[in-house]
Amino acid sequence: MRQAIPSWIRIPVIFLIIAGALEYFIDSGDSFAFIKYPVLQAVLLVVLLFLIAVEVIIGAIENVMFKALTPEAKERYMAAREERMRKYSLKRLFRKLAGTRPISEEGELELDHNYDGIKELDNKLPPWWLYSFYASIIFAAGYLLYYHVLDGNNQAMEFEQEMAAAQEAVEEYKKNAPDLVSAENVELLTDPAELEKGAALYQTNCMACHAADGGGGIGPNLTDEYWILGGGIKNVFHTVSEGGRAGKGMIAWKSSLKPTEIQQVASYVVSLQGTTPAAPKEAEGDIWKPE
Ligand code: HEC
Repeated sequence: MRQAIPSWIRIPVIFLIIAGALEYFIDSGDSFAFIKYPVLQAVLLVVLLFLIAVEVIIGAIENVMFKALTPEAKERYMAAREERMRKYSLKRLFRKLAGTRPISEEGELELDHNYDGIKELDNKLPPWWLYSFYASIIFAAGYLLYYHVLDGNNQAMEFEQEMAAAQEAVEEYKKNAPDLVSAENVELLTDPAELEKGAALYQTNCMACHAADGGGGIGPNLTDEYWILGGGIKNVFHTVSEGGRAGKGMIAWKSSLKPTEIQQVASYVVSLQGTTPAAPKEAEGDIWKPE
């Protein structure tokens, strides 16, 4: 068998099998294992050198042993070697798989009709084709059973599952990733649950200066239509996030609140428009109208 496959095929094939096995068994995520763990490159190099060394050594031993043989033994060895080569050669394997017979045997295949000199051969179906066909029948039976009888995951279900997993990943990402809301893209929240969160944030952080009902105190009245720094969700978001004019006491809340929280509290502030606070502070700034 060894002689049938030349070493320049044998070494790369064995090497690729080993490398493939490493790749398969070592969990390296999306990248190749030998890229993620550079030490594997050294390991693979050693494996390659080892394979070459084994080839060289076996070749040398054979050579030495061959030289030690008597002339007759040498001849017998060569003949046996020839025979083995013939038996296991790739050509032979190929012919077996293709099921072809050499042209010299064609006479045995000929069908005995003869139409104006046109003869027909009765070649068998090539075994590679035949066995692939049988294999496909077996596969089809398994497939049918799995997908149509036992309710295996079909494409639609796989799609749903992947979408659900992706959805989860997005939620997870949103939880940890820096918030993506900014003064440019912020939108007014009207969902009562969100406004409630905004109200809670307001009570903890803003009440001291703007009064519990937004009537104002140290900070301006947030319920009237007069704004120093501009009304509307975008301006309010910007003011809360970046703070008021220097020295006035309204800090930049972006250092302590997340963008989504600022969005919530800003939406809450906007929702205070038009309410009547218990002790409204006198108006400051100008009437603000959305463009
Ligand atoms: C330490 C007191 C203080 C706290 C706490 C405070 N503010 Fe202010 N806020 C002010 C002052 C003072 C101003 C006026 C800033 C200016 O004149 O530039 C202001 C201005 C504002 C304005 C702009 C009003 C306008 O007329 O343009 C908004 C909106 C606002 N604050 C919202 C909030 C929110 C929301 C919180 C809680 C997260 C908060 N503030 C917490 C003192 C405070």
